[in-house]
Amino acid sequence: MKLIVTESYEESSRVLADMFEEVITKKPDAVLGLATGSSPVGLYRYLVQDYKAGKLDFSKIHTINLDEYEGLSRSHEQSFGYFMDKHLFSEVNLKEENIMLVDGAGDMEEQIKRYDDFLEENPIDILVLGIGNNGHIGFNEPDEVFWAGTHLVKLEEETIKANARFFEKESDVPGRAVTMGMSGIVNAEKVVLIASGKAKADAVCRLLEDDKIDPMLPCSILKVCRDAVVIVDRELYEQTGRDENE
Ligand code: F6R
Repeated sequence: MKLIVTESYEESSRVLADMFEEVITKKPDAVLGLATGSSPVGLYRYLVQDYKAGKLDFSKIHTINLDEYEGLSRSHEQSFGYFMDKHLFSEVNLKEENIMLVDGAGDMEEQIKRYDDFLEENPIDILVLGIGNNGHIGFNEPDEVFWAGTHLVKLEEETIKANARFFEKESDVPGRAVTMGMSGIVNAEKVVLIASGKAKADAVCRLLEDDKIDPMLPCSILKVCRDAVVIVDRELYEQTGRDENE
């Protein structure tokens, strides 16, 4: 697992976008694994900007998202599908048939099977991850075990609180979500986690402090990924109390 410390969230986003752009350029039909929330907003902004500047072509690119709230369809303003449409899909020449999203309002069993079948046939070339304050990736919350396949999870109180900022009120946040499991993540050719903000410092510190893979710290699975990169800005890194030269 490689660590990159940048001077700012902006720089982290540029470094991350360069990694995505290298894959898109080298492999025009690549499968991109995508996250939602605050962390990847800068990445999507750069991808859209560089697409509009004529540097990128998404016409053969495939995408698959990490997760979706149970009960929310793509037209719901707080759904992850809606977020993706707004920040990326409607801005570039991606084909609708090449976009893989969970329909949170659809039949769960069917959605889960669709996702796992897709991932088995189309391993991800590059995957962006954010990290929850509790160390979750996708919506793989701390648990006694790691779950391999796509599955339905009960969201932790802390996650509901953290995500309430996207909703009118906390009680509007769905209590459950569907998430890609660890096999989709570990089978990705490259996994890049971007973290920013003081609230993530504890989880990042725990991730970096030893060599353990612990389902109570879901992001620790990155240690078995073949090519995993963690990008943090200096402000967060300083919060971890670690020495950069360690
Ligand atoms: C969202 C996802 C989550 C977020 C995490 C951090 O698709 O997979 O794991 O990445 O909750 O969220 P932000 O970036 O909003 O702090």
